[in-house]
Amino acid sequence: MSKLTSVKKLTPLIGAEILDIDLRDLSEELASNILATFHENSVVFFRDQTLSRDQLKAFGRALGKLHIHPLVKVRIPEHPEIVIIESDADTERVAGEVWHSDASADSEPPLGSILYMTVVPQNGGGDTLFSSTAAAYDALSPAMKLFLDGLTAIHDGERLRGGYSIKNPDKRLIASEHPVIRTHPATKRRCIYVNRVYTSHIVGLKQAESDAILTFLYQHMEQPQFQCRFKWRPGSIAFWDNRCTLHHAVWDYHPDRRYAERVTLCGERPV
Ligand code: SIN
Repeated sequence: MSKLTSVKKLTPLIGAEILDIDLRDLSEELASNILATFHENSVVFFRDQTLSRDQLKAFGRALGKLHIHPLVKVRIPEHPEIVIIESDADTERVAGEVWHSDASADSEPPLGSILYMTVVPQNGGGDTLFSSTAAAYDALSPAMKLFLDGLTAIHDGERLRGGYSIKNPDKRLIASEHPVIRTHPATKRRCIYVNRVYTSHIVGLKQAESDAILTFLYQHMEQPQFQCRFKWRPGSIAFWDNRCTLHHAVWDYHPDRRYAERVTLCGERPV
């Protein structure tokens, strides 16, 4: 198979399901078609996949270079590129429950993430929401765009402490300064690049000013008109663009179990 036989959009602004495809059998042409659909829709979804860990990594490698999370402890020593996303009756806090972009405290945060779901909650729930930060940027007033343009913000890995099993718990975790508005390298769209998990403050503003602007931006980006919502089934995959989306994993299924494995693609310094 070399062409995308069918693409079904979830909303006009964000999200598309790529149908009739087996990700174990990926030609270069198909990978480049997937990337084109990904750039157009910011997040793409696949159903009914059966991938081993090696095949999941091979799918990731067909689309980019695999990233190893600098903060989260490796759970499968033979597969340090795989992050486990798991919750059950004993879970006190789930990964991704707050709107965020993955690993934005890195100096070169990941381009995208690929989440492969194998166990869904038995009574439903556990959807993931995605929001387009490019559409959110487009909807700002010209005066607000002008104010934000040129500002930078600190993204601080320390803010993760307590939520994850952190590598090297005695070390100061990574922090980076990134533009508040970045330009997507492939689509050239401007995107708001701050998030509740990692961003501590906007550089050059008083803390109260920074808090007010960040709160406004978070609430603005989290509006439903910029979102799509994905309902998982076992074998579903989401591949999202961390440069122009935020995502939020809804934890409405406790005490049921949900299990997924994620590979992440390396990105570039935001500009
Ligand atoms: C994540 O932030 O990678 C987790 C998303 C999810 O569990 O749906």
